[in-house]
Amino acid sequence: MSFTFADYQTSADYLRGQLKGFVPKVAMVLGSGLGYLAEKVEDPIAVPFYAIPYFRRSTAPGHAGRLVFGKLDGQNVAVMQGRFHHYEGYSFEDVTFPIRVLRLLGAETLIVTNAAGCVNESWQAGDLMLIGDHIKLTLDSPLCGPNLPEFGPRFPDSSYNYTPALRKLAHEVAQEQGIPMREGVYLYLPGPQYETPAEIRAARILGADAVGMSTVPEVIVARHCGMQVLGVTLLTNMAAGILDQPLTEEEVLTAAQEGKEKFSGLVRGCLEKM
Ligand code: HPA
Repeated sequence: MSFTFADYQTSADYLRGQLKGFVPKVAMVLGSGLGYLAEKVEDPIAVPFYAIPYFRRSTAPGHAGRLVFGKLDGQNVAVMQGRFHHYEGYSFEDVTFPIRVLRLLGAETLIVTNAAGCVNESWQAGDLMLIGDHIKLTLDSPLCGPNLPEFGPRFPDSSYNYTPALRKLAHEVAQEQGIPMREGVYLYLPGPQYETPAEIRAARILGADAVGMSTVPEVIVARHCGMQVLGVTLLTNMAAGILDQPLTEEEVLTAAQEGKEKFSGLVRGCLEKM
């Protein structure tokens, strides 16, 4: 089904009714194991996904399902604690629905975080990677179907998806905090099966540094409606075939837990300076 502009408005109106005049400026989508940042929001107003018109439920492990509004490091934020993935059986429109709703509520910037496999063999599991660009080769775009001109143009530019000024800021914050940070290209593959070693070799030839199952649909939609974007990846594991061992969900979640201080420090440092 295609959502109409009125559907997004219905959802935004419902949330506005909960927000008592609060206007979020920064939308945050938090990936596996990183959702705990939502607990740090001050004076939180939390709304479960199931209560919001047209929102789906998040079923992935390590993902709660609620939107938390409030102050974090001096910014008015809306934190998606949990997100929707295509592999859960949701359409790209479902996956990206919240982004447009948060835009209607006033959000100008999107911070997206995720866990991903490390394709670049000179890097290590546990490293943080700023997303400099992405590759999406598969399936439909979330912008397929009738264009909604209230949000943006039919053929949006994709040259500066990850806002250069925010990337610069993130590098400065990382340096200040003494956190080593890579910058690279995130390849979106829909999953839910982890990639084959041959797919990872192909990914490397294509120019990818990391591979993951999220983020890119949301970024495409955020850019379409004119938001600035900062994307940060925690490389939780070496991608398939690099080490002679199978990949497991536990490995990814454990690494996400271990990296969360470093990761949240970086994101919070960026928030403070934005
Ligand atoms: N592949 C895809 N998605 C992932 C991975 C991976 O190796 N690790 C964490 N998310």
